[in-house]
Amino acid sequence: MCGIIGYWNLKKEAFPILLESLKKLEYRGYDSFGFATLSNTQLFVEKQVGKVSSAKCQELPGKVGIAHTRWATHGKVTEKNTHPHTDCSGKIAVVHNGVIENFQELKINLSKKNYEFLSETDTEILPYLIEENLKQGTFRDAVIKTGSILKGRNSFVVLNSETKEMIAFRNGSPLIVGVAKENTTSEVFIASDIQAFLDKTKKVMYLDDNQIAIIKENPEFYDVKTKKKIEKRLIEIALDAEEAEKGDYAHYMLKEIMEQKETLIRAINQDDKDLMHVAQEINNAKGVFFIGCGTAARVCHTAEYIFSKVADKHVNFIPASEFENYKHFLLPETLVIAVSQSGETADVLDALKIAKQKGSRIISIVNAPESSVDKISDYAFLINAGPEKAVASTKATTSQIAVILLLAYACAGKLREGNRLLVDVAGEVNDMLNPRYDEHVKKLAEKIYQKENIFIIGRGLNYPMALESAIKIMEVSYIHAQGFAGGELKHGPIALIEKATPVIALVANDEVKNEIISNAIGVKSRGAYIIGVAPENNQVFDYWIKTPDVEEVASSIVNLIPMQLLAYHLGILKDHDVDYPRSLAKSVTVK
Ligand code: M6R
Repeated sequence: MCGIIGYWNLKKEAFPILLESLKKLEYRGYDSFGFATLSNTQLFVEKQVGKVSSAKCQELPGKVGIAHTRWATHGKVTEKNTHPHTDCSGKIAVVHNGVIENFQELKINLSKKNYEFLSETDTEILPYLIEENLKQGTFRDAVIKTGSILKGRNSFVVLNSETKEMIAFRNGSPLIVGVAKENTTSEVFIASDIQAFLDKTKKVMYLDDNQIAIIKENPEFYDVKTKKKIEKRLIEIALDAEEAEKGDYAHYMLKEIMEQKETLIRAINQDDKDLMHVAQEINNAKGVFFIGCGTAARVCHTAEYIFSKVADKHVNFIPASEFENYKHFLLPETLVIAVSQSGETADVLDALKIAKQKGSRIISIVNAPESSVDKISDYAFLINAGPEKAVASTKATTSQIAVILLLAYACAGKLREGNRLLVDVAGEVNDMLNPRYDEHVKKLAEKIYQKENIFIIGRGLNYPMALESAIKIMEVSYIHAQGFAGGELKHGPIALIEKATPVIALVANDEVKNEIISNAIGVKSRGAYIIGVAPENNQVFDYWIKTPDVEEVASSIVNLIPMQLLAYHLGILKDHDVDYPRSLAKSVTVK
């Protein structure tokens, strides 16, 4: 997962625009970054290790250029491994997103032709392959030939200083062309995400898999297989550039947690007819599989409980990366429901490819419109949470749960009841997200931020929420956090509880309330410091965070709010960059 931006125009210097755009893509990878610009027939390249937002860069000349922000997959975080990578003559520069699965074999072949490798990356083979293929054809042919032999999900943009051309190739990770026209001047962008150029234009054309785009005044698109030209229309998108900015907040993560005051209402604003239609499909399906990764996988796990409790219906949850093992259960009457914020997670897309091959129906619950998951789905519910930029998912998570709740209520023939419940929950979340509540959670963070381990327990649908809370805490604070089903602690993990070990109990006003309290009492007797996230106080709690007393099935939403705030404050107290935690990237477009 990396961020790519390319820029073409005839009047303005490209570098400042590339720099600004690259900063907007930083959430996609922030190990290192680089630029290549074209001035006359010369390429200028600059690379640095670190985050582009905090770097001092030397401006490169030229009106055309490409840039890249890296999330390392092949090779350490070094300047040598940073993109762009160039060919032997220094005339071709490439920025790449993806993993070239057959790169070792291709590298051996190139080595036999005396190509010398300067980096440890898979990307470096691209400029050499293009250089090699240029011996037998045009630049366009060379790019197509190169892209076509790559295995895996790959997208790249190439700049050729000799022919003064920029070409983008897509087979996997997203690439979007943006065109800004003012009087007689045009500016053309190619980027991994619209956010990179949204302040300049909202007019876009989507590059699809196995297509190339020639980036020039009037961009041209070609099919890689047939080499035929493809006509595309400019689409005006309804996104607001400001929505993706931090505004007055110190961090995107905090902004996005606070946005849950509105995002839940936006999420449940779905078309009733579509909900009923998909609910009917769920009821008639021969097997329903919820798939997702990371936090989205925890949401899918919660779906098992939600459907069981609300609609008396068994649905399966499988982490997308494990889905292949279940493929023999897939029938054309099977429904696969993908949950993904970005809509670009490679493991999810691979799982959906299997579902497609088996002829199963695909439904998705997705935040990014026009993303690959959105496009491959037979029907997509957009959660409309707006851009989520912090690596740690927050507002998308609760919105996904809200849509799943609606679907479950629709399956039970009680859509109206579900809607009413969620409107109430949205109101409760709005009330929770006030400065006093935040301060109370922050005080807890101050008490426990120096601990090495934090355990979170929950029962029923608060079990997957305990797992999700652990993900949140780990990814932004780097404190070892682990979630458990309350009843499982005594089967082994209780051995980890020492004096003052924080154990957070996620409690709902449900039939397992007494059991989770008993589990908390059990660990307290081993010395644990018990934090209760619960609608009511209990004498076992050493610290109590009150949550609204909503219906049991909606407790997953309200209990997550303080856990997101806790993770945020733990990360801040640890002095971490909570928006861009180490080793992570917002959406994982590699397997
Ligand atoms: O974009 P997706 O929802 O498909 O992403 C899935 C996971 O990579 C994502 O949820 C990840 O676990 C987050 N960093 C969690 O906060």
